[in-house]
Amino acid sequence: MKTILTGIKPTGRAHLGNYVGAIKPAIALSEQEGVKSLYFIADYHALNAVQDPKLMKTYTYEMAATWIALGLDPDRSILYRQSDIPEITELSHILSCITPKSFMNKSHAYKSAVDKNLAAKVDVNAGVNMGLYAYPILMAADILLFGTDTVPVGRDQIQHVEMARDIAENFNRKFGETLTLPTYQVSEGTLVLPGLDGRKMSKSYNNTIAIFEEPTSLLKLIKKIKTDSKTPEDPKDPNDSTLFALFREFASEEEIKELGKRFQTGVGYGEVKQSVFQVVERRLQPAREIYLELLHNTEKIDKILQDGAIEARKIAASKLAEVKRKIGM
Ligand code: TRP
Repeated sequence: MKTILTGIKPTGRAHLGNYVGAIKPAIALSEQEGVKSLYFIADYHALNAVQDPKLMKTYTYEMAATWIALGLDPDRSILYRQSDIPEITELSHILSCITPKSFMNKSHAYKSAVDKNLAAKVDVNAGVNMGLYAYPILMAADILLFGTDTVPVGRDQIQHVEMARDIAENFNRKFGETLTLPTYQVSEGTLVLPGLDGRKMSKSYNNTIAIFEEPTSLLKLIKKIKTDSKTPEDPKDPNDSTLFALFREFASEEEIKELGKRFQTGVGYGEVKQSVFQVVERRLQPAREIYLELLHNTEKIDKILQDGAIEARKIAASKLAEVKRKIGM
C-alpha cells in the first residue's frame, strides 16, 4: 500500500485554476488501486495569515465542502482537520529541535517576505511571525507523521516537500530508521489555466472564476474573458485562446475537436463563450448542489472531519510513540 497525503490551506474560495491544477488530479490519485490517501485542511498553516476566527471557520468549511462536492470520497480517503490531530504539533516541536535555524532561512515563503520588506525599505522581519518562519517544519510533521510516500503538490510546494525529506533524513541519521522519506508529485499534463485577463488564473492577479459561482455570475465572468479583435470569419489559433483552454478542461474529446475545427474555419467569440459556459456549468452544477447543501448543514462536514480525525489519529499516535521511544521519552 502506497500512502499519499496532501494538505489544503483554507484561505478563501477555490477557483477553476485550483480545480484543474490541483483538486482534480489529487482526487484522481486517491481513486487508484493500492493507494491509501489522506487529505487534510491545513488550518494551522493558515493561522499565520488568517487571524479572524469567523473567517477561519468559514474558509475551513468552504474548503472541506469544495473537495467533498468535487468527488473526494470520505469512505475511500481520510479527510481531517490538521488542528484535530495534536500529534502533528507535537512532532513539529520534536523536529524543530533537530533542525538548524539556518535551514529555515532558505524557505521560499520566508525569503519572499524578506525580499518584499527589503524592497519596501522596512525592517526585514516586518510581518514575519514564527508560524511563517517555521512553516516548513510543521509541513514536515504533517507529512512524516503518516509515513507518506508521495505528496501531490503544486510547483510552489516542491521545496517544502524536499525540506521534509531532508528533515526525515536528519532524524533517521541521529536516531535510526524511523521516518519514511517522502517524494513529491507534480501533476504533469495539466496546463496552467489562464484567467480572465489571459495571465495564469491566480488570486494574486484578481482574475479568477470561483468554482461554485452561481450560473448567472459564471456566465457574466466568462463573457468578461479577454479576447482579441478578430471577426467571426477570421481563422483563429485555438492554442492561443483563453476561452479554448477553459473549454478543453471541461468538454469531451469530440467537442474539443469540433470547436478546434471551428476556430480555424470561423466562429464568433460570443458563441464560443456560450459553449464554454455550457460545458463548465454541465460539469459543476451537480457539485455546486452538494457544496451548497453541505454549507447549509455544516454539522455534516463536522461529522466527516471528526470521523477522519479518529482514523488519522490511529496512524499518528503509533508513529509518534515510535518517534518518542527513539528520542528516549
Ligand atoms: N503548504 C501547502 C500549501 O500552501 C499546504 C500544506 C500544508 C501541505 N501541509 C501540507 C501540502 C503537507 C502537502 C503536504 O498549499
